[in-house]
Amino acid sequence: MGLWDKFVVLEGLDGSGTTTQLNRLASHCRNKATDCIRTFEPSDGFIGQAARAVLEKREKVHPLTLAQLFAADRREHVQLMTEELEAGKWVFCDRYLFSSLAYQSLQLDFETVLEMNREFPLPGYCLYLECSVETSSNRRDKRESIDLFEKEAFQRKVISLYEKAFTTLYPDGKDLYRINGEDSADTVFHNIIEILGL
Ligand code: TMP
Repeated sequence: MGLWDKFVVLEGLDGSGTTTQLNRLASHCRNKATDCIRTFEPSDGFIGQAARAVLEKREKVHPLTLAQLFAADRREHVQLMTEELEAGKWVFCDRYLFSSLAYQSLQLDFETVLEMNREFPLPGYCLYLECSVETSSNRRDKRESIDLFEKEAFQRKVISLYEKAFTTLYPDGKDLYRINGEDSADTVFHNIIEILGL
């Protein structure tokens, strides 16, 4: 079994339900006494916080700088996650390099973003919550803050960039799991548990 086999990443549009599902997954594991940690990117380390300040429009930087911030945050985060995986835990992560490919490539060349993220290991499971722009946008309207990447036209492009990321990184489709994010939270959760065998 490889070190990254228990590294699970959830990806999807803003509003696709990744955070809800990760919270459920973590409490499900806790109830079953399965060792796990729930984490997210951008992380809450200081580089991740800098990236979030840009997303929330508190700071402004060049798109390339933002992509570098996400990659630098990821480098630190990967170190931390490595320790957890070495301790035998499941690591459930809300967003990872696929988000950089899907979002930063809106403003930068896809290959440039790919190169910045080449060094990072791929997860044992990449769970993609597929959701229409309409559904994710309706869900987002219920929230208070609108961040930099939440505009609807952007989200349509994000979907096609996610697809480009998946064909590039998963040419044979192995380790990539598409889940219907339009289903109820219970159904989505049931599907995730089944895929992970937890
Ligand atoms: P979230 O905290 O609600 O998941 O939002 C994080 C936002 O950050 C989301 O719009 C996607 C964006 N993002 C990037 O643009 N690049 C990245 O590498 C990551 C991890 C997130």
